[in-house]
Amino acid sequence: MKRLSQVLCLCLTLALVLADKPDHAGPPDHAKAHGHDNHGPPDHAKAHGHDKHGNDHDHEHDHEHDHDAPDRCTGLEMDAVAVNEDGVPYFFKGHYLFKGFSGKAENSNESFAEMDDDHHLGHVDAAFRLHHEDGHDHDHMFFFLDDKVFSYYKHKLEDGFPKNISEAFPGIPDHLDAAVPCPKPDCEEDSVIFFKEHEIYHFTVKNKSVEEHHEFKTMPNCTAAFRFMEHYYCFHGFKFSRFDPKTGEVHGKYPKVTRDYFMKCANYSEDTDEVERERCSHVHLDAITSDHDGNMFAFRGHHYIRRDEGNDTLTVADIEDAFKEVHSDVDAVFTYEDHLYMIKDDKLFVYQSGDDHTLLEGYPKSVKEELGVDGHIDAAFVCEDNHIVHIIKDNHIYDVELKNSPRVPEKEKTMALFQKVDAAKCDKNGIRVIVGNHFYRFDSTALLVGAKALPDQHRVSMELFGCDH
Ligand SMILES: *[C@@H]1O[C@H](CO)[C@@H](O)[C@H](O)[C@H]1NC(C)=O
Ligand SMILES: *[C@@H]1O[C@H](CO)[C@@H](O)[C@H](O)[C@H]1NC(C)=O
Ligand SMILES: *[C@@H]1O[C@H](CO)[C@@H](O)[C@H](O)[C@H]1NC(C)=O
Ligand SMILES: *[C@@H]1O[C@H](CO)[C@@H](O)[C@H](O)[C@H]1NC(C)=O
Ligand SMILES: *[C@@H]1O[C@H](CO)[C@@H](O)[C@H](O)[C@H]1NC(C)=O
Ligand SMILES: *[C@@H]1O[C@H](CO)[C@@H](O)[C@H](O)[C@H]1NC(C)=O
Repeated sequence: MKRLSQVLCLCLTLALVLADKPDHAGPPDHAKAHGHDNHGPPDHAKAHGHDKHGNDHDHEHDHEHDHDAPDRCTGLEMDAVAVNEDGVPYFFKGHYLFKGFSGKAENSNESFAEMDDDHHLGHVDAAFRLHHEDGHDHDHMFFFLDDKVFSYYKHKLEDGFPKNISEAFPGIPDHLDAAVPCPKPDCEEDSVIFFKEHEIYHFTVKNKSVEEHHEFKTMPNCTAAFRFMEHYYCFHGFKFSRFDPKTGEVHGKYPKVTRDYFMKCANYSEDTDEVERERCSHVHLDAITSDHDGNMFAFRGHHYIRRDEGNDTLTVADIEDAFKEVHSDVDAVFTYEDHLYMIKDDKLFVYQSGDDHTLLEGYPKSVKEELGVDGHIDAAFVCEDNHIVHIIKDNHIYDVELKNSPRVPEKEKTMALFQKVDAAKCDKNGIRVIVGNHFYRFDSTALLVGAKALPDQHRVSMELFGCDH
């Protein structure tokens, strides 16, 4: 395990360095991805692929949005799901594509033009990113449309494609329902699991043969499938189940509603336990802080999660209920002298901490005027008994002395390790920086700034919130 994690760190560092190059993978909104797992062990997907201001804003500027585009929060049945080279999930519906966990649909042909040219892109039947480290097609994305398969690497169609499915994947039928990669050691050899109606095909990549062909009896017919954070998910209708790729068994309380765990929405399904949903959601956090009593507040979309010091019970509430003026979608939050400082776009809101959060008079104010940094901040934190707020924006950290007036950044440093973070907090256990579904610990800001290799990776869902996966 030790060796593996060293290799992982090395590869990630490399990947992060590569990620700095302008020609790196794909469309501009993904250039900020935090590295990828190309050569690392399967799906330690670091990447993150959207930024929280990202999808909506960028797209409003970049593309004309088509008003018939489906809304991912209405309970869609996805046609296909795959994780791209940067670890960003792509959800396909009709000729639309949703990138990441939030934001609007775009036309799939903007990212994968040839699928449209060659084949009217009505919908994608199945999609996956291949894991086959010994092969030339490692990390290629494969798309299945009727009887054809397309192979892309970094959004470029590979020579010789599209091919007939029967040629590229002998033994696999046309008109598939779903497909998911199953690398070693999850499956005995690097494989792909294909789904069509009730039939399951285990395809071994190295010798291109179908090893097993059976039924996963306890599982519903999958309309889409994907592997994420080392787990296997079958999507059926607007729900999903997590399954064991070898046996097809579903363990635990499934099916669950897809949008509750994989989409950032204003409203979720009413019969889902909201604590369980926020605990296990894959949607990235917007902001996190602990107050001086050690009570934690984590913000995501329209909701926040609270955990009191010395009490493992999480509570979930609408941001609207406690922090009415902020409403939702916070950029950054920090605690200083019994106040919660909440930043959203270019505004700073200051609330009394404690049980009754009242907005201080005169707020919101401009972030630029109050803290000397332009708005659209990614994260901010104050370490215990300190008067400096560390403000993170892209790969920069600005230190602002809160006792000064006017407050202006005194130091600006550049992080080598992260191009973009989602949230960060500092408490008696040090600094925790959250990037996508993971967080990393650092003992000081100097170590965070100076870090060249990723420290141990922790899962937000498990280690911050106590979800079981
Ligand atoms: C993509 O598809 C849309 C809708 O089918 C079409 O209007 C548009 O012209 C296509 N764009 C490209 C670049 O092919
Ligand atoms: C692909 O399938 C079509 C239709 O079944 C067939 O006509 C064609 O020869 C096949 N191409 C190859 C390269 O096998
Ligand atoms: C699953 O597929 C089988 C065919 O293999 C079909 O008979 C059955 O109706 C399907 N089940 C659902 C729920 O669609
Ligand atoms: C392909 O590889 C698998 C796994 O090593 C093996 O079980 C199978 O017999 C091989 N199939 C052929 C046709 O060589
Ligand atoms: C969410 O639900 C509330 C209350 O039911 C409703 O007023 C609001 O319009 C919904 N928001 C969206 C985006 O559907
Ligand atoms: C923990 O917090 C929950 C929810 O706020 C509360 O109901 C419970 O009494 C608390 N338990 C302890 C031991 O403080």
